[in-house]
Amino acid sequence: MWNRAKSIFSIIALGLCLAAGAPCAQQAPPQASKAQHTLQKAEDPWWKHAVIYEIYPRSFQDSNGDGVGDINGITSRLDYLRDLGIDAIWISPMYPSPLVDFGYDVSDYTAIDPLYGTLADFDRLVSEAKKRDIRVIMDFVPNHTSDQHPWFKESRSSRTNPKRDWYIWRDGKGPGEPPNNWQSWFGHSAWKFDPTTNQYYYHHFYTEQPDLNWRNPQVRKAMYDAMRFWLDRGVAGFRIDAVSRLFEDPNLHDDPILPGKNAYGDPNIAHKYTDNLPEVHEVLREMRRVADEYPGNPVLISEADEPNITELTKMYGRKNDEVQLPMDFQIADVNKLSAPDFRRLLNEIERNAAGGQPHYFFSNHDQPRQWDRYGDDVHNDQIAKLMAALLLTMRATPLMYYGEEIGMRTTDPVRKEDVQDPIGKIGWPEEKGRDGERTPMQWDGSKNAGFSTAERPWLPVPPSSAEYNVNAESQDPGSILSFYKRLIALRRSESALRDGRYVPLDRDDPFVFAYLRKKPGKGDAILVVLNMSGEPRTVKFDLAADGIRDSSARPLIAAPEMAQEATVLNHFTIPAFGVFIGSVH
Ligand code: GLC
Repeated sequence: MWNRAKSIFSIIALGLCLAAGAPCAQQAPPQASKAQHTLQKAEDPWWKHAVIYEIYPRSFQDSNGDGVGDINGITSRLDYLRDLGIDAIWISPMYPSPLVDFGYDVSDYTAIDPLYGTLADFDRLVSEAKKRDIRVIMDFVPNHTSDQHPWFKESRSSRTNPKRDWYIWRDGKGPGEPPNNWQSWFGHSAWKFDPTTNQYYYHHFYTEQPDLNWRNPQVRKAMYDAMRFWLDRGVAGFRIDAVSRLFEDPNLHDDPILPGKNAYGDPNIAHKYTDNLPEVHEVLREMRRVADEYPGNPVLISEADEPNITELTKMYGRKNDEVQLPMDFQIADVNKLSAPDFRRLLNEIERNAAGGQPHYFFSNHDQPRQWDRYGDDVHNDQIAKLMAALLLTMRATPLMYYGEEIGMRTTDPVRKEDVQDPIGKIGWPEEKGRDGERTPMQWDGSKNAGFSTAERPWLPVPPSSAEYNVNAESQDPGSILSFYKRLIALRRSESALRDGRYVPLDRDDPFVFAYLRKKPGKGDAILVVLNMSGEPRTVKFDLAADGIRDSSARPLIAAPEMAQEATVLNHFTIPAFGVFIGSVH
């Protein structure tokens, strides 16, 4: 399964290599005065201290029994999110859509699909969330629209239509021959012939997702106005979808062919001429200016699978004037428990030239869940806690994916006819699609795990829900959910964990990843020790140079529990896949 995700994300990486404080201050309403606005800008922004939680709306909570999650369902679960300690939710697209890519094919950027509810439901969600100190982040899909968007319908109607240039139209090379060899991320040619005007249009993703032409100023204006529409309704920012794909080489150079074939049977190619073109940064600066028109420090989060720290750093902008939180796919793509890999990548991002805030995650709606990706099939629950501790103790803004806190696992379809995600149909059996990581949230042990009263939810509820669900785990202090709650609470209460410097320890240990989170100027620190191996390990810490005088650490959270004698700093024994978080002075 993970190979599938790798096949999606790594080819582009290769292409790029070839090319070269106040934890919960509420967002002020839009009408806040200029003076207030300036004041808020000067403050430590909320997103630096937030725990962000991704909700896939189809799968979180169904309130009307149609088998698909919806906005009122999310609103009904806000108390759960507050009790978990979540500061902001990013909700995958809920715009009107023919749902070819389950919402990432937008047919109206300023409305809500009736499947999910109404704009009034959305407004109520934002206001109820605000009462609980939870911000709402929208998903924004700028690279492409649905082919059912009125803009595209106009564009395809004639070569002289005023919206013709809103999309990328080109002549073929010859009869039946597309303009060049560019491939869709989801398989086969990225060009689709349209007989109405005898030209091809470009689609980086599905054929039903034509790419917008971001070199057209009218497109930019329309999209920035769409951002303002949601900011005016009080959203706290945007997760910007597939942002590195906004531009393509105007000269249509062929992409370099690489050895081998992908899951769709196409030759592997490096997306050299369709990904990460420099103009992307101009657009990001413009988007940032739109966000900065609003008070309350709205955040921009970029989805771009950057292949290295240099490219990732560019996302912050030369003057920190692009996105505040570029998602770090390098960390997410470490597909094994590897202390050296995590240590190396963390050190790199810590030194990013922009001084930007790291943004880490391990699971999302496009990649297999972490429970089974890092698990060894024997200690998966313990490993789930280990990954939780890593995510929530690093110096970064952590991003969780619904259900990771209860140990939800990837549950792929077993028959092709059950597959919902089109890439799973195109690429079956090698590519099973992304249904496995999008199954319904597991709330309790009742029918459909409390997700829906429908006979058949849109995706089946995994069998593991009988044991792994919110209700059962809330009553078990040793559960994965209880562990997440304790970690998030500790992150809030310990300023060293929230704001402290990251000081790597144990630089060469192949199994144990250990670090300090240290308050500025003081000796106080939090010691984090993570054993990424299946054997107990004994390590030695000499923290005198870091201003620490203690000879042993005082446990705050440990899994499994550890005796005080084990935490002697010069003979520290950590169990298999163990987590230790303690304070030292
Ligand atoms: C992003 C989304 C993914 C979607 C694609 C095309 O990668 O996360 O789910 O299929 O963009 O919009």
